[in-house]
Amino acid sequence: AEDGYEFWLRYRLEADTARRNEYIQYCGGEVVAPESFKAGAAYLELKRALPAILGKAFQANNAKAGSIYVGGRNAHPAIASLVGAGELAGVGEEGFVLRTGAWEGRPATIIAANSTRGILYGTFALLRTLQLGGSLQGLHVVDAPKMRHRFANHWDNPVRGSIERGYGGKSIFDWNALPKKVDSRLNDWARMLASMRLNAVVVNNVNTAKNGLEGWRLLTPEFLPKLAALAGVLRPYGVKLYISVNFFSPSIVGSLDTADPADARVRAWWKNKAAEIYKVIPDFGGFLVKADSEGEPGPLKYKRTHAEGANMLAEALAPHGGYVYWRAFVYNAKGDRTPQAYNQFKPLDGKFAKNVFLQVKNGPVDFQVREPISTLFGAMPRTDLAVEFQITQEYTGQDRHVCFLGQMWSDVLRFPLKGEKNDARMWNTTDAIAGVMNINDSRNWTGHLLAQANTYAFGRLAWNPETSPDEIASDWVRLTFGRDPVVVKTIVSILRDSWPAYENYTSPFGIGMLCDRGKHIDPAPASRGSVHRADAKGFGTNRTAAKGSGYAGQFSEPWRSRYEKLGTCPEELLLFFHHVPYTHKLKNGTTVIQAFYDRHNEGVATARDFTERWKALNKLIDKERYEHVRKKLSEQAGHAEKWRQSINDYFEKRSGIPDAGGGS
Ligand code: GCU
Repeated sequence: AEDGYEFWLRYRLEADTARRNEYIQYCGGEVVAPESFKAGAAYLELKRALPAILGKAFQANNAKAGSIYVGGRNAHPAIASLVGAGELAGVGEEGFVLRTGAWEGRPATIIAANSTRGILYGTFALLRTLQLGGSLQGLHVVDAPKMRHRFANHWDNPVRGSIERGYGGKSIFDWNALPKKVDSRLNDWARMLASMRLNAVVVNNVNTAKNGLEGWRLLTPEFLPKLAALAGVLRPYGVKLYISVNFFSPSIVGSLDTADPADARVRAWWKNKAAEIYKVIPDFGGFLVKADSEGEPGPLKYKRTHAEGANMLAEALAPHGGYVYWRAFVYNAKGDRTPQAYNQFKPLDGKFAKNVFLQVKNGPVDFQVREPISTLFGAMPRTDLAVEFQITQEYTGQDRHVCFLGQMWSDVLRFPLKGEKNDARMWNTTDAIAGVMNINDSRNWTGHLLAQANTYAFGRLAWNPETSPDEIASDWVRLTFGRDPVVVKTIVSILRDSWPAYENYTSPFGIGMLCDRGKHIDPAPASRGSVHRADAKGFGTNRTAAKGSGYAGQFSEPWRSRYEKLGTCPEELLLFFHHVPYTHKLKNGTTVIQAFYDRHNEGVATARDFTERWKALNKLIDKERYEHVRKKLSEQAGHAEKWRQSINDYFEKRSGIPDAGGGS
């Protein structure tokens, strides 16, 4: 099947014979490993992949071929001889050493690690090398994660099977069939998560009760065996199961008349509930909680703080080693949302229990195509933080536009909190990372095939935030479409240009969400007056400390001053931080309103060009995927034009200044 079901785990015959022979030399022989390994997921993956890549010549017991040695240094003398004790200790609990060398006069491949998970990641790393056609000669990779907790967050709704902000399909979880029937697709899902080197997953929507949602049911006795079945699928792949819970569970699931965290009965209820879960899922991860946010209830009703609410759950989970992820997406609809999370949570720094992470969206608004980073990063030194990104493209084209977000996430993670001359990066302030997933039950998992590049990029950046987005894009393309240079160059160029293009034809200069209020996909500038603040003279939102909502003032230097002053504010965020006259001159001398029109026109031209670039791939890739993406790109070009027209028309009317460029 060419349709994308396999994600990037496509194992195909290595076409270069010399390369294939080299692979056989190094790893075409036995897999020498402890018995426990042979019962595990990594071995299954090797057995699936090696014959496919190495071809007919591959025989599991080819006496002339080199073997793969797997395990710790005690597992085999080959490993002890080729991997130093210090080197292996250095990769910690989840890292690995992957290397080739010689053992007993023959080439050998070593996958060494300190845990099953490390071995699994080392195995996927070896397979990636083979899939990419890399040489095994002198291979020596020593790798370990930079973030400890790496999450997939599914916003799937039990029982109805829909997905909050999901596009192109329904939930992969069939709660009615579980635990009796575990769809084989779930196994492929677990493989995919492990190949992304994610070690935790939340399987249900953060919204658990509003509008008749039933995610709260996961805590009922009926659902525990179903959860246990899912945990059973995930366990061999080193992924811990978490669920989103409703703060009012003691009264929704249980029969208490309160959910007050100071009430002893409430505390006991949660303790019993945790014990009940751990009885059937001994390695259960814990809870994700959206509280006092967008209709989901929380501790504020009882005049308790977010910390008091989170700590009560933490207390119930702590004896079992579980964690609470408490979301900071809390705002009051009145007034500017951006400074609110900081004002709410900063005073609570140091007040959260040890096993609580505060989960913070990358920016202060809501997964926009452009926004500054959340001011909570760097402001909570005594609190464990998790950063939340959105892989599903709610505000970035959904399943209709290609919009590769690798560069945006990289910019956020590598953001120099104390200025470019300082080493402090945003990711240094977090030890956990979560991505809101874009996968569903469509045959290719993501609807738009190119959206898989975002799924993939999230995993790569979660493991190592310093990875270059271009390298990630290029790897993804080669893993997904093969290594033809025209194919690689073309698709990488589309991915690279897609985020800037989307920003251009929707919301340049940080102006913010100009989309409709329901589905967030169509242009609706007239309904977004409170976002763009356009009047007869100018547009943009004043978020300075001096005269605006104060968001700029929550940054530390040098950003506070830079954002505060019009002259030093980076132009890409100009309208986010400042309200300026339409005739305000940019650094290059153009007026901001003309530049705003220009960028819309440019964005559309780029989107149109994607359809031209794609044509070069006709016959270079399979017809099915060629046609699928061709159609998507052509719809995108049309929808981009709709955006351009709607936005430019609207601002021409508001400003009374016509587009001098006169975009077609
Ligand atoms: C966005 C999104 C909601 C979601 C919310 C959240 O506002 O539109 O559907 O529930 O984020 O992150 O909780």
